[in-house]
Amino acid sequence: MTDLSPKAIAQARAELGVPVERLPRSVAIIMDGNGRWARRQGLPRVAGHQEGAKNVLRIITEAARLGIEALTLYSFSIENWNRPAAAVNALMHLYAQYLGHERPTLVANNIRLRHLGRRASLPVPVQRELDESVRISSVHTGMYLCLALNYGGRAEITDAVRRLAARAAQGEIDPAAIDEADISAALDSAGIPDPDLLIRTSGEWRLSNFLLWQLSYAEFYVSDLYWPEFGPEAFRQALIAHAGRHRRFGGLEDAPPAAESTR
Ligand code: FPP
Repeated sequence: MTDLSPKAIAQARAELGVPVERLPRSVAIIMDGNGRWARRQGLPRVAGHQEGAKNVLRIITEAARLGIEALTLYSFSIENWNRPAAAVNALMHLYAQYLGHERPTLVANNIRLRHLGRRASLPVPVQRELDESVRISSVHTGMYLCLALNYGGRAEITDAVRRLAARAAQGEIDPAAIDEADISAALDSAGIPDPDLLIRTSGEWRLSNFLLWQLSYAEFYVSDLYWPEFGPEAFRQALIAHAGRHRRFGGLEDAPPAAESTR
């Protein structure tokens, strides 16, 4: 059981040496380079994803220990269905297994699991394990862990637009009154703070259709490490780098974005 008392979190943050107001509340990660890590070791791709899954555990635990409010992990994109069937099946098998096995981790770290993405086209065993993990963790009060699984940023925005359009057609909302908060609330990530920091491993500088709406003001941190080797120390270095950035949100000094303009 991780000690997640306010005192323990304050202690972990003090050891990191970053002022609390400069710690990201919400972090998103594109966990890239598992296949390349495996190839470099002379192992099959699936071994890279298994090792990547072990690292997911290490990073979840570290983020919870530091009192991060939300961690969003890009686990499978809608575009990933274009991979060979055997590779997709191996990943889906891994997700079902991982979601089933790791419920004690959610309990031990007081984590609330959320799913981002199109649930209905996931294989039934993955849906079942996902639903059960979301259900059992819904009573928790700690970090949100958002798994983007069968996720695409454009698809998420499209789904949100459809929901809002359906409500407008029913006369529940006035189309002219729809604002940014309404759109945020119609996304899969409703209620989760937008990421302050986006980490991508394996040296790639692409957004790959991830959280297109939510990342508007995020700082981007790219590590050359492959995901299986991007451990807690590398994660802490990313948080330290974020703390050194000056976020201006389009203005002149550190300040959150002003309310949306009505002009
Ligand atoms: C990108 O390419 C990564 C993925 C498609 C999936 C990432 C999956 C994991 C880290 C497995 C465990 C995750 C959970 C939530 C249990 P790539 O890494 O397949 O390979 P590349 O080296 O060819 O870019």
